[in-house]
Amino acid sequence: MNEAQATDTLSSRAATRLHGETTVPGDKSISHRSIMLGALAEGETEVHHLLEGEDVLRTVAAFRNMGVEIVRDDAGIYRIQGVGLDGLREADDVLDMGNSGTAMRLLSGVLASQPFFTVLTGDASLRQRPMKRVITPLSQMGARIFSRDQGRAPLVIQGSELIPIDYTMPVASAQVKSAILLAALNTAGGSSVLEPEWSRDHTERMLLAFGADVRREGMRVTVEGWPNLRAQHITVPGDISSAAFPLVAALLVPGSEILLPGVGVNPTRTGLLELLTMMGAHIEQRQPRVAGGEPIADLYVRSAPLHGIEVPAALIPRAIDEFPVFCIAAALAEGETRLSGAAELRVKESDRIHAMAVGLQSLGVTVTELADGLHITGRPEGLAGGVTVDSFTDHRIAMSFLVAGLRCREPVVVTRCANIQTSFPTFRAIMSHLGAQIS
Ligand code: S3P
Repeated sequence: MNEAQATDTLSSRAATRLHGETTVPGDKSISHRSIMLGALAEGETEVHHLLEGEDVLRTVAAFRNMGVEIVRDDAGIYRIQGVGLDGLREADDVLDMGNSGTAMRLLSGVLASQPFFTVLTGDASLRQRPMKRVITPLSQMGARIFSRDQGRAPLVIQGSELIPIDYTMPVASAQVKSAILLAALNTAGGSSVLEPEWSRDHTERMLLAFGADVRREGMRVTVEGWPNLRAQHITVPGDISSAAFPLVAALLVPGSEILLPGVGVNPTRTGLLELLTMMGAHIEQRQPRVAGGEPIADLYVRSAPLHGIEVPAALIPRAIDEFPVFCIAAALAEGETRLSGAAELRVKESDRIHAMAVGLQSLGVTVTELADGLHITGRPEGLAGGVTVDSFTDHRIAMSFLVAGLRCREPVVVTRCANIQTSFPTFRAIMSHLGAQIS
């Protein structure tokens, strides 16, 4: 068995107390965008604390294949020699985006206006995910994108001159919004996107920092084409979506107290903190400050008894990646938690509604699977464990059930965990530093 296979199945066991301070890796969304905008700007962009997870490294590799020089120094700082909006060149092979929906959807936007031919593919999970949501608006801008099976990757993009768009998004999706805004950079005139709910706004913030003309009026974002993008120095905030795992673990394991310094607390991403606070958690955002146009803070949390809640619909896009671990909190809370209106969870790296329902049921939790959510009745006394749970190859499902194992009497084994590498390669080291045993 090689190392990759050995870490594909992991198990976690009851923890007594989590304690200490630890820095989580850089934000995945912001890391992708820093590489993309660094490549499209003029001059050298320097990126500190880039997430070196497989997803982001796919974006790095894709831009290298399109002729962009990206160098990592011994201190882990990435330097990108920007080629400008018209400086990318055709890759000589298919671009494999691995497990990353963000890489594939945002790159579709970048490539739609580039005068060359590209093929984008990904792993089995990514090839099942819906790409029509970006193909439709980009085609309205004049893009020529061909796909398999009515909107699934591999995608073939024959870049062409685009026309501006004023697009009303049917679902709140930062990836769709970003694909359009990135396509609009290389398009004469102003393009707008109207979003139904507030989705993460890292693209808008970073475009502003690079010097683009970006305006927000209510729920509509407009970007003007052909800006002068100037290289930047970026320090990527800690990823709140990764912080979510030690944070929920510390809430659930009695006697715990942890501090996570420098975590991004952009209000479009803090839905989980609000949900947990509604459940009775006390989470402090200490030393709030701004880094590279993004709000950050040190997150302090100690264990607390939680109670079930009804999830407010407006919070769903702002906590979209955190529902797997939120469901673990619900499974150990007093009473029932009700989540609906979250059908998007079915088209993430796995069908997260189904994956959570199956895993929680095997842990003995009472769960009802809805078309667009879950009802979960918690067991605050702890769970029995002693079972094997499938992660469906989804990094966040895997980490969520490993967190659940910390409150089980018998160990929980989780299979197909290799994709933890896509977003949180230091997950096990960080959890072990805090006192949790995951091996
Ligand atoms: C992301 C947006 C979200 C999120 C994903 C990252 C981004 O996806 O789930 O992990 O970086 O823009 P959707 O835009 O599909 O909601």
